[in-house]
Amino acid sequence: MTPPDTNLYLVGFMGTGKSTVGRQVAKHLGFQFLDSDHEIERLQGKPVSTIFAEQGEAAFRAMERDYIEHGHPASRCVVAGGGGLVVPPGMLELLQARGIVMCMHAPIETILERTRHTNHRPLLQVEDPETRLRELYAQREAVYRRTGTMVLTDRRPLREIVGHVLRLYRYESAHFKK
Ligand code: S3P
Repeated sequence: MTPPDTNLYLVGFMGTGKSTVGRQVAKHLGFQFLDSDHEIERLQGKPVSTIFAEQGEAAFRAMERDYIEHGHPASRCVVAGGGGLVVPPGMLELLQARGIVMCMHAPIETILERTRHTNHRPLLQVEDPETRLRELYAQREAVYRRTGTMVLTDRRPLREIVGHVLRLYRYESAHFKK
């Protein structure tokens, strides 16, 4: 049997561990690991927060779409997407046409804790980040669920999560039709 080369896309809310899990999974598969936020920052030459401040969220979403459509290799990579990447209409379908899509999931309380001491996320640079997070989480949950595969990332050792994602990937990639 030929080893799978289908891309794997990890989506999900901020603070669910997409990059941490994705980096490890890529290492096990011998794939390239790409973080869409970092790639966009590299291409634009500025941080996501500056892109939001100077050009607005819509421009950033267009950059995310462009990155998925044209900006990365078509095989042998694990892409960790920003939390909002899969949200605009058509983005989930775009990802699903290119590879296996899985959503990393954690309860809102865990996300609140994980994001409490960070300040690089422009959407949370508001007076009341908790209310903002709860609103975004409620708005987006339906899209995340539509991925069909939600992997829980809280209260589990990283090794176990990575093993779970690898098993799901091997199963799904064996059935993936380009
Ligand atoms: C965003 C999540 C961030 C980043 C940007 C917007 C979002 O990525 O893309 O700040 O809309 O949820 P992470 O999920 O890696 O924090």
